[in-house]
Amino acid sequence: MSKTFFITTPLYYVNAAPHIGHSYTNVAADCLARYHRLKAQEVFLLTGTDEHGQKIEQAAKESGKSPQVFVDEVVERFQSLWATLQISYDDFIRTTQARHVRAVKVILSRLHDAGKLKRTTYQGWYCTPDETFWTEEELRQLKANPQGPVCPSCQRVLEPTREEGWYLPLRQSQEWLRTFVKAHPTFVRPQTRYNELLSLLEQPLPEYLCITRPKRRVGWGIPVPFSEDHVTYVWFDALLNYITVVGFVDDPARFAQFWPADVHLIGKDILRHHAVYWPIMLHTLGFSDDQMPRTIVAHGWWKVDEQKMSKSLGNIVNPQAIVTQLLQGQPHAADVYRYFLLRDVPFGQDGSFSQDAILARLQADLANDLGNLVHRTLSMITRYCAGRIPRMASVGCAVDDAALQHSTVGLGTVVDEAMARLEFSVALDAIMRVVGQANRYLESQAPWQLSKEGQKSRLESVLRIAAEVLRVVSIHLEPFMPSVSEAIRTQLGCGQLYRWIDGTVWPGLPDAQAIGKPSALFPLSRSCGVSG
Ligand code: MSP
Repeated sequence: MSKTFFITTPLYYVNAAPHIGHSYTNVAADCLARYHRLKAQEVFLLTGTDEHGQKIEQAAKESGKSPQVFVDEVVERFQSLWATLQISYDDFIRTTQARHVRAVKVILSRLHDAGKLKRTTYQGWYCTPDETFWTEEELRQLKANPQGPVCPSCQRVLEPTREEGWYLPLRQSQEWLRTFVKAHPTFVRPQTRYNELLSLLEQPLPEYLCITRPKRRVGWGIPVPFSEDHVTYVWFDALLNYITVVGFVDDPARFAQFWPADVHLIGKDILRHHAVYWPIMLHTLGFSDDQMPRTIVAHGWWKVDEQKMSKSLGNIVNPQAIVTQLLQGQPHAADVYRYFLLRDVPFGQDGSFSQDAILARLQADLANDLGNLVHRTLSMITRYCAGRIPRMASVGCAVDDAALQHSTVGLGTVVDEAMARLEFSVALDAIMRVVGQANRYLESQAPWQLSKEGQKSRLESVLRIAAEVLRVVSIHLEPFMPSVSEAIRTQLGCGQLYRWIDGTVWPGLPDAQAIGKPSALFPLSRSCGVSG
């Protein structure tokens, strides 16, 4: 059996409701998973929530609830958002689940028993929102701040910390990691992030990573099996989910089927945890170079109207509100949102969200181009061909026919190349270019004119070609807009879900197949703020 294609997302902190940033990673991960499934690959998409640590403990306290009650409530908001956005995950791990807690304890004991951990005292600076330590050494390189040192990652003021605990040696693995990263140029993507990692590894890493927290300060964590006074550091516990879920501790056959992860999808702010701490943790656990994750992809950040999203600015974008309010009345609102996220910003770069930007995409790309192509093609098949897929018979205008056929059949290769580099916007752009070409084709061939002139056979061929384009486009759109893709297939009268390979078949629709009822995919109305 070939190895399962294993995709992971970060585990989201459940200290607050999900926002656009969280949804971005999961939409991208879902798109990638669906793409590989269409290629008939076994895929395992893992997502979940990170439920321990000081930050969550504090949020629970502020809301007057126990941490467990608090996380149980917030996790539902994540799960319901993933249902709204059609995130087809195969497993959802909560770090408070017994399966994870048990496995983390086993791993800690293994490291401890093998003498890999060191007990000592740490002095440095702590960023509570990021749950991250910074050493004096790391902070020395930064500009002085009147309020005291600030977190190099989120710019918030740090708290001085001196803590006795258990430590994982980092610096002793630095040389190994640097050599590994240099030998694996796609270990981190995009290139800018890879370069960032290499330059990080040019500086000495902190000697150790503290992997415990004293219980008296942080009570909400996985107990450390060999120390009653400590719980596990939230990042150490959370990163391990990538191996605990797939059987590292108790199911070697399952583990071999899934590991190594093919893609760890993350945001750029957690690159250091995934590309430095995580491989060093695995290396310390005895993983070979071949067992390192294949690729870590770090995407950019969403701002809002060019500003950083924050509670204090009150500009946090709630994806549920976008789908149910801004896009109210859209039958495929979640797909419009997915399309916007993946099309508007080249993956890896920062993006700026605005309501106008999403509505502009809806109007221009989706309603005027894609929706129009579907609607006019199907309406004309209803009107001129008695609602049945016409035959492709005539030659005439063969140059235009061949050009459109060529672009359509070749789409798979272009999309494959883009998806191999996780360039979602490039793939979507290629698909939408074929849609544009098909619209221009219909205008130049003018089926309404052919009808008037009684050129029945040519008319049928032109509409058949347009219908074939829709079939192929619906295949390539499936990973991006699953419900739109299904609606196109239904309107074409095709019940079945195609595979990727079917996009290379031409023609692929059965002659005389009855089409479904044409209906607007993206009706523009006042309710979503766009005038028709
Ligand atoms: N719990 C850790 C991850 C542990 S993974 C083993 C964490 N959680 S988080 O909820 O704070 O962030 C999760 C992800 O959301 C990160 O990848 C982060 O980059 C992403 N985003 C948070 N805000 C974002 C934006 N404004 N824009 C895009 N993504 C952002 O970190």
